[in-house]
Amino acid sequence: MAIQTTFLMVKPDGVKRQLVGEIVDRFERKGFELKGAKLIQITEELAKKHYAEHAERPFFGELVEFITSGPVFAMVWEGENVISVARLMMGATNPAESAPGTIRGDFSTTLSHNVIHGSDSLASAEREIGLFFNENELV
Ligand code: PPS
Repeated sequence: MAIQTTFLMVKPDGVKRQLVGEIVDRFERKGFELKGAKLIQITEELAKKHYAEHAERPFFGELVEFITSGPVFAMVWEGENVISVARLMMGATNPAESAPGTIRGDFSTTLSHNVIHGSDSLASAEREIGLFFNENELV
C-alpha cells in the first residue's frame, strides 16, 4: 500500500469549458479522496514558480500566459498510488498519444490547452501542494 497525496489542477480551458464537475467526478468515482480544492486566479509570479523546471523551454512564455489567462481549479487528492494513477487517468500530454477514456483523450486536442495538470512525482507533488495550499486549507 502506498497512500500518496498529489496536486491536480483544472487549467483555464477546462474551467471555461465547465469540465470541473466532470473531472472531480472521475477522481471521486475512482475512489480517491479530495483533501482540498479552490478556484483561483494564478499570478505571473506563482505561474513562474510552478513551471520553473520548464523555464528554459521555448514555450515557457506561452505556458505562463495560458495558465494565468483565467481561473484554475486547484485540488489535492489522496489515495493509493494516486500520483501515477492520476497521470494515467489524465492521459498523455501529446494529444496524438492520449487514449480515449482519459481526460485529455476525451477533451483535448492540443499540447498546451490540455485541460488538466498533475504532479509527476512525490517531490513535485509536495512542492506544488506547498505552492498552492496552506496547511489549514487541507483536511
Ligand atoms: S511533461 O509530461 O511534464 O514532461 O510534459 P512536457 O511535454 O514536458 O510539458 C510540460 C508542460 O508544458 C506544456 N506544454 C506546452 N505548452 C505550450 N506550448 C507547447 N508547445 C507545449 N508543450 C508542452 C504541457 O501541457 C505541460 O503542462 P503541464 O501543466 O505540466 O501538464
